[in-house]
Amino acid sequence: MSARERLAGGAANFVDERTGAAKWMKKTLTKVFPDHWSFMLGEIVMYSFVILLLSGTFLTFWFDPSMKEVEYEGSYEPLNGIKMSAAYASTLHISFDVRGGLLMRQIHHWAALIFMAAMVVHMMRVFFTGAFRKPRELNWIIGVALLTLGIVEGFLGYSLPDDLLSGTGIRIAEAIIQAIPVVGSYLAYFVFGGAFPGEVFIQRIYMVHILLIPGIILALVTAHLMLVWYQKHTQYPGPGRTEKNVVGYPLMPVYMAKAGGFFFIVFGVTAFLGAVASINPIWIFGPYNPGQIGAGSQPDWYMGWLDGLVRLAPPLETHAFGFTISWNILIPGLIIPGIIFTLMAFYPFIEQWMTGDKREHHILDRPRNNPNRTAIGAMSLTFTLVCLINGGNDLLATHFDLSINQIMWFSRIGVLVLPPIAFVITKRICLSLQRADRELVLHGKETGRLVMLPHGEFIEVHEPLSNEKAYLLTQHEQNPPLAIGEADQNGVANPQGLKGKLRSRMSSAAQEQIAKPTAKELLELEEGHH
Ligand code: HEM
Repeated sequence: MSARERLAGGAANFVDERTGAAKWMKKTLTKVFPDHWSFMLGEIVMYSFVILLLSGTFLTFWFDPSMKEVEYEGSYEPLNGIKMSAAYASTLHISFDVRGGLLMRQIHHWAALIFMAAMVVHMMRVFFTGAFRKPRELNWIIGVALLTLGIVEGFLGYSLPDDLLSGTGIRIAEAIIQAIPVVGSYLAYFVFGGAFPGEVFIQRIYMVHILLIPGIILALVTAHLMLVWYQKHTQYPGPGRTEKNVVGYPLMPVYMAKAGGFFFIVFGVTAFLGAVASINPIWIFGPYNPGQIGAGSQPDWYMGWLDGLVRLAPPLETHAFGFTISWNILIPGLIIPGIIFTLMAFYPFIEQWMTGDKREHHILDRPRNNPNRTAIGAMSLTFTLVCLINGGNDLLATHFDLSINQIMWFSRIGVLVLPPIAFVITKRICLSLQRADRELVLHGKETGRLVMLPHGEFIEVHEPLSNEKAYLLTQHEQNPPLAIGEADQNGVANPQGLKGKLRSRMSSAAQEQIAKPTAKELLELEEGHH
């Protein structure tokens, strides 16, 4: 036994004798996980969250969350002698006078952008492959909570420096709070500790940003990962993979090594961006002043679609019983996002209702094999994209020499018309891909080699698919739509209410498929009976 092995054995013994952990560790470390690049998306989210915690802690050493007025006397000359909040002055101090301060600020901001982007892409992976199906619905809901918290956390973060851009964002948040009927203005006074902007807001959101939300995110991420562990990770379809097994590699040493390396890659990329790519240069925006607004003010990308939604609302207001209801803020700022996030959280159950499929699923879907779901995903992304485009309407107008009204009208019409078009096109593409798969299985791969037969006919040689590939293209289930409202065996009609009719329509749409080849068809073709 080498000295290193003796040392490792001694350490393991020490821990086991005091905790009895050896048995548990053995079971845990040899647990098998399936392998696919798309399973690394969740890891990127996790690692960028760790980077956020580390870089954020560094920033807390110097950031002063106070709205007390001070006169700037730092090394950034253009702002010398200007009155500003202590929060803004301390952010300038971190940027120009603390060693490594600007790098850390930029790493923190880039990590936040990567965290949100990776979370959205991870969620798309989970959605398009159907990984949210039973038994993982709860983990999907935890995910939607994490996404919501991530958006709020990011917004609070870039509101902290109290520069002109962040103040503009807070002003919009105040307008949205005020738009809540009846209690809105009282609530806004409560949140800001008086009239906007007040003197306590930064201090309050600071506590929420560094303590409350990260704490909740940490707790939810822990629950999220424990569920992944307990329920086991889903796997992509393939030979030897069933609903009852997991084909992959053990945690130790394969994933330990991979995860360790991957963390440093994510850290490296974030640090590189922080070092070379300027982000949120608050000294250019200047301190917040409620009477000013910078041209081209843009929120971070994950808030952009919400901003765009608010920007496209027509001016609608009602005055009743001494109250004003600002529908133009209430609908896009609260009601539509509320509906979107609720539908998103309940989507696994909505799909169960549409298809009647309440069984457990551990094998993932290829997106083309569930055209309806894939089309719903494309429709939602198109909606968000149109809103995001409108969120940057001022910049698009100046950069492409367009009128802001043209972009506004494009968005107003596009937000209603383009998502259904995206739905139809995506569904057609999926069905075409299914048709292509069917052709491949039945007739093999086109080789491009033309052969002349003895009687003069030209044919193209087709290469048969490997068994693995043929299995992959045919392993999915194809279920008929739910038989709702059909007459029974005796021909007695079974009238259904509106709900039944709707479910029947939805089920037919959800189960629309190109029939996959059957063994009989394949046999017939092989025997030459076309
Ligand atoms: C802080 C945010 C999040 C972190 C750190 C995180 C992390 C992870 C990790 C590491 C995995 C296992 C690897 C993988 O499948 O990618 C996973 C799986 C999963 N995540 Fe997340 N995630 C987050 C947000 C979300 C969101 C927003 C959703 C959806 C709304 C979601 C839904 C799921 C589901 C359903 C699984 C199980 C997937 C399966 O077994 O195939 N997660 N998550």
